[in-house]
Amino acid sequence: MGRIVQAAKITHVPSIWMSETMEKFRGIRDAAVAGYRELGKRARAADVETFIIFDTHWIVNQGFHVNARARHEGVFTSHELPHMLMDMDYAYDGDPALGEAIAASVRDAGLRAIAHDTPNLACEYGTLLPMRFINEDAFARVLPVAANQFASIEEGRAMGAAVARAVESSGRKVAIFASGSLSHAFWPNALSEAGLNKVNGEFNRQMDLRVIDLWTSGQWSDFLAMLPAYAERCTGECAMIDTAMLFGALGWDQYQGKADILTPYFGSSGTGQINVDLSVP
Ligand SMILES: [Fe+2]
Repeated sequence: MGRIVQAAKITHVPSIWMSETMEKFRGIRDAAVAGYRELGKRARAADVETFIIFDTHWIVNQGFHVNARARHEGVFTSHELPHMLMDMDYAYDGDPALGEAIAASVRDAGLRAIAHDTPNLACEYGTLLPMRFINEDAFARVLPVAANQFASIEEGRAMGAAVARAVESSGRKVAIFASGSLSHAFWPNALSEAGLNKVNGEFNRQMDLRVIDLWTSGQWSDFLAMLPAYAERCTGECAMIDTAMLFGALGWDQYQGKADILTPYFGSSGTGQINVDLSVP
């Protein structure tokens, strides 16, 4: 029997790369990196074999998709923010068997899903930035899962539940990460540089803080009840489908775990970010 042994909602902001590689910005995202390293430590302690990452930068328009290549290897530059994140090399084993099993399980749930093993399907930075630190010496396999930008929260829930069923019958110990923002309103161009470390708008900031309160006090069903409106009004990254899939995998409103904040809430280019470990009972 396979098992989800680790779950988390995680950041992936390109300013992490700036913090690590550009003198002018050195250290600005140390807290995010420290959170990643703690997740990596916990993953090793839990014997994680595969990281399943719901990646809000692998955006798809139809159905659900898994990158089931046996090997992920290359050098990445972001097309969205090439001045922030460039020339990042990566090399990880993939998990074709689990990828195929997930796609089959999602199809059994009545949704369209495809596992791809195609030589030119590369990884996106929602996977690569966290993996660089959490999976630093590539001790575990990496399985990127796309985010459908037009899927409903309910479809995300069903998709996540199907992922969990596939994991159960896989024999693998896995970590499941929702790689995406809380609120996600970039600054207008004129304010973008000055807003590097801030959340765009007090409404979004207050909503994010309330959500974090709900998580740390275990009010999961209240949070899930507001998730569709939260995604819409706070311009959720890929409509917060990563979060819907994560909680779908964790049992949705039956989830009773604890939230452990590993990187305190911070603003980045207007968006609200955090690293939170969600305990798996
Ligand atoms: Fe993002």
